[in-house]
Amino acid sequence: MNVRDAILERKSIRKFTDRKFTKEELETIIDAGRLAPSGKNSQNWHFIVITDQKVKEELAEVIQAKHKTIHDEMVKLDEKKAERFAKFLKHFTMFYLNAAALVVVMGKNYYPTGYYEYELIGGKENIMQDLLYKKNPGMQNIGAAIENMTLQAIELGFGSCWMTSANYADKEIEAYFKDKNYFDDDEYFMCAMLAIGEPEGENKTPAKKNLEDVTTWL
Ligand SMILES: Cc1cc2nc3c(=O)[nH]c(=O)nc-3n(C[C@H](O)[C@H](O)[C@H](O)COP(=O)(O)O)c2cc1C
Repeated sequence: MNVRDAILERKSIRKFTDRKFTKEELETIIDAGRLAPSGKNSQNWHFIVITDQKVKEELAEVIQAKHKTIHDEMVKLDEKKAERFAKFLKHFTMFYLNAAALVVVMGKNYYPTGYYEYELIGGKENIMQDLLYKKNPGMQNIGAAIENMTLQAIELGFGSCWMTSANYADKEIEAYFKDKNYFDDDEYFMCAMLAIGEPEGENKTPAKKNLEDVTTWL
């Protein structure tokens, strides 16, 4: 399969068959993340790879508990929005329970060129914060790693869904990993999750903008 075919075939997958990964298949996918480009080759990622159903379910409990806390407050203010939030949990997060693997992608801050230089010359805090968070090269690194994994999964006959919809439970998820002694490094924070498995049935993908609408050619 060439890269163009993998790009064309990739779509978000939210329905999976029961097919499991071989160790080699899953390692190849995660390894594609490892090989992604990153600013100053910082490789500011860590991949928590979960195939154990019990762990996936425990994580779901953590997410649901946080969801409930937010939802219960929302209901008092806006029932419709609370209902939408509940549907989102069901349709755009919990499907990961049926994926053969869930990768929780952790990242740490990457201080880009210009950050320390501004600091040294007493640069304005807001400019430094912009460099770090608005342009966020650290998160761009993470995105490159995730995209690599999604494309590698395609070549091996799998599909995936990149997810940030559980990020509101990030602190609780990090605490869960820590409590269980699975992962404990305060420098890292949760960035996203990637559900991966064999796609089941036909999967729709939304239309994309036209090339001329997203480009400026000079
Ligand atoms: C950063 C990011 C976060 C996303 N979060 C979620 C999510 O939490 N749940 C979900 O079901 N899909 C999520 N998606 C998938 C998008 O909805 C999907 O990529 C988009 O609708 C385009 O569809 P396609 O992936 O099939 O091309 C996310 C995608 C990205 C890149």
